[in-house]
Amino acid sequence: MRSIYPEEQHDPLLPGYSFNRYLVAGKTPIFENGPLDFVIDRPFGMSGYILNMTVEGQGKVFEGEDEFYCNEGDLLLFPPDYAHYYRRSPHSLSWQHRWVYFRPRAYWANWLKWKKTSNGIGQLSLSLNMENKKHIIQEFDQLLNQIDQTYKAGRSTSEDLAINLLERLLIRCFEESSDFLTKKIDPRIQDVCQYLTENLAQERSLEQIARHICLSPSRLAHLFRKETGVNLMRWREDQRISLAKQLLQNPAISIAKIANEVGYEDQFYFSRVFLKRVGISPSLFRKDLAVP
Ligand code: FCB
Repeated sequence: MRSIYPEEQHDPLLPGYSFNRYLVAGKTPIFENGPLDFVIDRPFGMSGYILNMTVEGQGKVFEGEDEFYCNEGDLLLFPPDYAHYYRRSPHSLSWQHRWVYFRPRAYWANWLKWKKTSNGIGQLSLSLNMENKKHIIQEFDQLLNQIDQTYKAGRSTSEDLAINLLERLLIRCFEESSDFLTKKIDPRIQDVCQYLTENLAQERSLEQIARHICLSPSRLAHLFRKETGVNLMRWREDQRISLAKQLLQNPAISIAKIANEVGYEDQFYFSRVFLKRVGISPSLFRKDLAVP
């Protein structure tokens, strides 16, 4: 199957890859003086989360006061817009890590609040679980590998299946963090997510949404971001595009109808948003799904 995501730079391990998808996963094998032996430096972070697990060697994150190291079985969670700055540790000849980049679903918010953080970066050490250390590291390594294989499998459902596995991984991370966070996502935000999901086809302004839960628009925007880590309008757009991708699998529904179903009156505007988010137009996306 031809890739449905033509990108300028095709290798996510090298600078210049666009990451304009819902999920991308991989393994980065860094060896001293090898082709990947450079600093991964994204001062403005990324638009999605990155979960990263060291499977071999040692990595070093940040430089100076904030620096810390990661070893086999250490997981890191970089929220959107947090700076990335990491590389092979100078004390180790190699650093191999698995990672998954993803845009979250709202109901994951609770699993994305890791108990231990350093400068906003979530930290979880599987090697602290002494009794079961080997098995747990293996389980997480396999799960990340499965996510990687699944999203690359080229089926029309590959992304959904990979997201399903990712959900499992996030729940497992949540379980392994020594004591679960008791704080639940704010019920008003849960309510907003439900309201938006039920009204995806309708245009609701921030003011209308805010009125629905008796908050001011600015308070709502702030609270939504705080609770879910993403911008409200952007979150809704993600849900719309996600639904559009599902509907496009049914060739009997016209693109104009899909645009309407997911809340865009103007089919051309919908196509523009889709192109921006997915990397190709809805009609090409549909055509590519049909290629065996
Ligand atoms: C790769 C890096 C990996 C992760 C992903 C998003 O290039 O090797 O650590 O940051 O990008």
